[in-house]
Amino acid sequence: MCGIFAYMNYRVPRTRKEIFETLIKGLQRLEYRGYDSAGVAIDGNNHEVKERHIQLVKKKGKVKALDEELYKQDSMDLKVEFETHFGIAHTRWATHGVPSAVNSHPQRSDKGNEFVVIHNGIITNYKDLRKFLESKDYEFESETDTEAIAKLIKYVFDNRETEDITFSTLVERVIQQLEGAFALVFKSIHYPGEAVATRRGSPLLIGVRSKYKLSTEQIPVLYRTCNIENVKNICTTRVKRLDSSTCLHAVGDKAVEFFFASDASAIIEHTNRVIFLEDDDIAAVADGKLSIHRVTRSASDDPSRAIQTLQMELQQIMKGNFSAFMQKEIFEQPESVFNTMRGRVNFETNTVLLGGLKDHLKEIRRCRRLIVIGCGTSYHAAVATRQVLEELTELPVMVELASDFLDRNTPVFRDDVCFFISQSGETADTLLALRYCKDRRALTVGVTNTVGSSISRETDCGVHINAGPEIGVASTKAYTSQFIALVMFGLMMSEDRISLQNRRREIIRGMQSLPELIKEVLSLEEKIHDLALELYTQRSLLVMGRGYNYATCLEGALKIKEITYMHSEGILAGELKHGPLALVDKQMPVIMVVMKDPCFTKCQNALQQVTARQGRPIILCSKDDTESSKFAYKTIELPHTVDCLQGILSVIPLQLLSFHLAVLRGYDVDFPRNLAKSVTVE
Ligand code: F6R
Repeated sequence: MCGIFAYMNYRVPRTRKEIFETLIKGLQRLEYRGYDSAGVAIDGNNHEVKERHIQLVKKKGKVKALDEELYKQDSMDLKVEFETHFGIAHTRWATHGVPSAVNSHPQRSDKGNEFVVIHNGIITNYKDLRKFLESKDYEFESETDTEAIAKLIKYVFDNRETEDITFSTLVERVIQQLEGAFALVFKSIHYPGEAVATRRGSPLLIGVRSKYKLSTEQIPVLYRTCNIENVKNICTTRVKRLDSSTCLHAVGDKAVEFFFASDASAIIEHTNRVIFLEDDDIAAVADGKLSIHRVTRSASDDPSRAIQTLQMELQQIMKGNFSAFMQKEIFEQPESVFNTMRGRVNFETNTVLLGGLKDHLKEIRRCRRLIVIGCGTSYHAAVATRQVLEELTELPVMVELASDFLDRNTPVFRDDVCFFISQSGETADTLLALRYCKDRRALTVGVTNTVGSSISRETDCGVHINAGPEIGVASTKAYTSQFIALVMFGLMMSEDRISLQNRRREIIRGMQSLPELIKEVLSLEEKIHDLALELYTQRSLLVMGRGYNYATCLEGALKIKEITYMHSEGILAGELKHGPLALVDKQMPVIMVVMKDPCFTKCQNALQQVTARQGRPIILCSKDDTESSKFAYKTIELPHTVDCLQGILSVIPLQLLSFHLAVLRGYDVDFPRNLAKSVTVE
């Protein structure tokens, strides 16, 4: 789980300073994916491309530390200009080996830096590879799995059968030996001015920019045959010759720039023209021409990769006037929730149309059950909507944590419909659960926020939640948009159920007023800040509720623990007397979510159980609730909406509370320790 960024300027002169700035900016955009150390590999000063050596600069800490380090390097002339240059960069989230300069990427093949590589993912057979390479006298210096890749490519190169072997052939042979997940970008002194990138299970895309016309909009994928059984038996590959018609290049004087990145947020400020690589694609740039080839046929069997135009804008991913991305994203919710509904909900006719699902609706209606799968916040969105989905679809609905679902080898059948909820669309556990369900022939539906992500591409159909890029590691606006997307699915399923028409109308009316009501909740920020001032020195915080608002408690507690590092638990109020009540005394801060819904009376009971133990509950309740406020130490009064949508409003005060607690406790809200935005490892 790391961020990869690489930049090639081909016949586009750039000073070293400009190259540094591009690489650092790219890493900063990806820092949410991991930020315990960072590094770059760039060319030495020599003007003659063929004689350049590779210089590595790596630093423990955030990208800022690397940025400072780059400018301290005496040997690097910042003004030197490169007509053609390829630089690779990486921000790391440690999986194998502690955060340190030596464990950070790029990893290298040897002390002469003949081959360097950046990697996102995990190589599960790296120990075997390492053992084999050590037996061949390749010396390892780090604790990482990635180093085995750098050494392996050198081994393949050292044992090549012909002098003119191409860079992409070497990489092709290397990936035949790798097990696990990876996105990789390679650079080598033996192939100056060339780049090779590949992926399997981890995301990777390539941006292209040129003031000249591009030679094609579709890059044909070349297939090659190769039989490699194990690392000791590296075979001869039949190499097809590339010609211009199979490559992407700039017509004219060929000046072109390529950007390689783990996701579009690092590329969009340079170009919106991108190519998403498929698993096992090998993309190579040589002489300013990009070609793609593969050894195995792709899952989609698409014979070409299209250059797509992204609609995302840079300002969408900037912080604006907010002090943190998380705060900005909390305040974006009136729009993000609206954007999830835009063009899909018709408030005049009370109908909902999710374009990505309409062709599969008949099949979904015939299914045996719905299984909704996700991790963390995305799982909570499934918990939050389970009841309304059961009501509107009249189907059994299972909600599952992806990791546990897989651990249990849960039985799945071809007449099941499995939903995969994921903001990033790249979460490894969710992706593996998706493949598990696909193998069992269930219909798979993706609910993601990232166009072109692995989950959105590998599912049979899906819904894009349109929340806009979410940069803060703690998920906020994606939750409310996932929530509303799942409710929309329930509404679409129930369109012809006569008995449900009144309920559908009530919910759709409620959805229409949500953006305004969210604004009203956001206006409570000052009050919530004051509450944070009272609570920020506490060690623990309990959040209780039930029914539609149980998920609010789970999600609120997750937000609190992940960015404030306080202990926090989301407790089902119905379970209070079965154990958690023992935690309650006059010191323990307790937040209770008590809404005017079918669980109201039962919540009152829980409230009394807490106050009877001298607990001093802080209550999130409806504006008109005079009863609950009698027992409250403090109240936060929220506007009222339809019961099944209330969770969208009640989670926001807890998002804001966690944000202010973290700021008051002096933590970096957008970069909580030990976490990363996109969890692409199991
Ligand atoms: C918490 C959070 C995580 C993610 C989880 C799944 O704030 O963001 O719990 O929700 O890692 O990520 P996605 O939704 O990208 O699959």
